[in-house]
Amino acid sequence: MFDGVAKRYDLTNTVLTGGQDRYWRWATRRALALRPGERVLDLAAGTGVSTAEFAKSGAWCLALDFSKGMLEAGRFRRVPMVNGDATALPFADDSFDAVAISYGLRNVSEPDAALREMLRVTKPGGRLVVAEFSTPVFGPFRTIYMEYLMKVLPKVAEAVSSNPDAYVYLAESIRAWPNQRQLAMRISDAGWSSVQWRNLTGGIVALHRGYKLG
Ligand SMILES: C[S@@+](CC[C@H](N)C(=O)[O-])C[C@H]1O[C@@H](n2cnc3c(N)ncnc32)[C@H](O)[C@@H]1O
Repeated sequence: MFDGVAKRYDLTNTVLTGGQDRYWRWATRRALALRPGERVLDLAAGTGVSTAEFAKSGAWCLALDFSKGMLEAGRFRRVPMVNGDATALPFADDSFDAVAISYGLRNVSEPDAALREMLRVTKPGGRLVVAEFSTPVFGPFRTIYMEYLMKVLPKVAEAVSSNPDAYVYLAESIRAWPNQRQLAMRISDAGWSSVQWRNLTGGIVALHRGYKLG
């Protein structure tokens, strides 16, 4: 499916989110609090658009994704890229200062296994940031957003995306995804400590943070 959306993935995101995706990526970089020279793994990195944002910090950022089509569409970004599976990472234990996954965890077939793999490859004291679609907190806004998601978004995607059906899946997968508190519990259950979250754009997106005990 992701090979099929790769061609106009970045543009479609910007159109469907009304440009909010740029703010969400900036906020994700801030939440990671990266320092120059740190080693960062960006999982389910797709076209590397999230990785390139993190690299602005001066940290060394590696993109990993299992869709060759997505990686290929982002080759121009000049960030290092690896084709691999988030649930079986090709890295030694304690390899990275920070691990991030943006709009990817929901798409991984076994998210809990991916969270455990992320913990394994993170150095003691290192951190995790998960950026993911979530549940708007204010009821009336949530109702309007759900209408947009299920009715408007697939129509807009038809006009912009190289694979509009994927955006029907997007809407349904967001609706089925755990809310902020439930996701925090799953991240903790995978072994991460001090898990907290912050809502962006009223909770359309949530940034979850966790730490690997030193
Ligand atoms: C919505 S894209 C997110 C891309 C990018 N992180 C961003 O912020 O735009 C989700 C990505 O998850 C990848 N993905 C899904 N399951 C995966 C897995 N098990 N291992 C690695 N990547 C996976 C897909 O190939 C796809 O590129």
